[in-house]
Amino acid sequence: MIYVAIMGHGVVGSGVAEVLRKNADSIARKAGEGIAIRKILDLREFPDLPYADCFTKDFEEIVNDPDIRIVVETMGGLSPSYEYVKRCLETGKSVVTSNKELVAAKGDELLALARKNNLNFLFEASVGGGIPILRPIDQCLAANEVTEIAGILNGTTNFMLTRMIEDGMSFEDALALAQQLGYAERDPSADVGGHDACRKICILASLAFGKHVYPAQVHTEGITAITSEDVRTAAAADSVIKLIGRAVMQEDGRLYATVAPTVIAKSSLLSDVNDVFNGIMVRGDAIGDVVFYGRGAGKLPTASAVVADVIDEVKHLKARKYLFWEGGYEGYVIPHGEGTVQMLVRAADTADAAAQIAAAFGEVQAVSGDGVPAGDVAFITPAMTESALDAALAASGLTVKSRLRVAQL
Ligand code: HSE
Repeated sequence: MIYVAIMGHGVVGSGVAEVLRKNADSIARKAGEGIAIRKILDLREFPDLPYADCFTKDFEEIVNDPDIRIVVETMGGLSPSYEYVKRCLETGKSVVTSNKELVAAKGDELLALARKNNLNFLFEASVGGGIPILRPIDQCLAANEVTEIAGILNGTTNFMLTRMIEDGMSFEDALALAQQLGYAERDPSADVGGHDACRKICILASLAFGKHVYPAQVHTEGITAITSEDVRTAAAADSVIKLIGRAVMQEDGRLYATVAPTVIAKSSLLSDVNDVFNGIMVRGDAIGDVVFYGRGAGKLPTASAVVADVIDEVKHLKARKYLFWEGGYEGYVIPHGEGTVQMLVRAADTADAAAQIAAAFGEVQAVSGDGVPAGDVAFITPAMTESALDAALAASGLTVKSRLRVAQL
């Protein structure tokens, strides 16, 4: 029997306990050994649960128990998760986490610590909830040079955008429903502000390109400024707006990385990823484009990925899984503004607008039709650096109402 501890009995942690108990027989068959929960760390009381006697409020009871070989961290946040995970790895326990904030900030350091101590540190659930994505990038696509990763990485905002577009729901009602369904973070500003998606693109890019990308290096915009006028203008361009996390390797070895509401063509596979679902496109030199799709948030889908990592760690108690990336450095991610972009611009349709657009950008792709609000003009700029584009818009004399990145995905 292999004993595990779970730190944090919230949405995901309780799902992990439920799956480990409910599927105990089939999990034991797949792991080659039975897996039992020895301790659950939480400050709250759960007296009615069948495993109520496993609860402790004291982390020391976990870290000092030599029989616990694997610790699951589902507390979220950086403190005290970072300290606890570090101490587990220092005292000979392998760790599984669903905590994207922790991996995005400290993944390089914790992977190095796990390697030094011949342990495993796995975190499949930190990106895409239940969707297998990290293991496929690390193993199944290992033959490829990955050139780009782009994805709808946040279930809450995708759910909200879908409800706002399809049901005309307000931003606030859509957020309340997402929270009620257990999709949103404790602090939903991490979802709507794009920070959750940022952490996930950092993890994906770190794994795919082998060097840590830190959240502070990634220009991040959320969905709070998106209006129904923007949604309708995108539709007039035969496109939809999705919150996209994107990392593109440049020819000079630096990385372009951003999170932003992005206009993508309705012909793109990602355009059909709706509700709480996530979709992640990986572009490799041998495979071409491959898209991973599934439930990106929620109790049991996320628990599914956590428990699969636990099973993998049980199977590799004596051998390390090779999943690793190096530390990052300043200058690895190109500064915001140097990236080449195209924008869908909506501006007031004044008498001078056509001449101002032509003077600023030369030939543009005009967007017209019922979706463009009366009194507005919309167009897609040529590809240029973001700072040059911003400067051209500022100097144009146009009254700009919105500007959204356009990507061919
Ligand atoms: N709040 C996150 C989301 C949970 O909505 O995608 C899963 O990481």
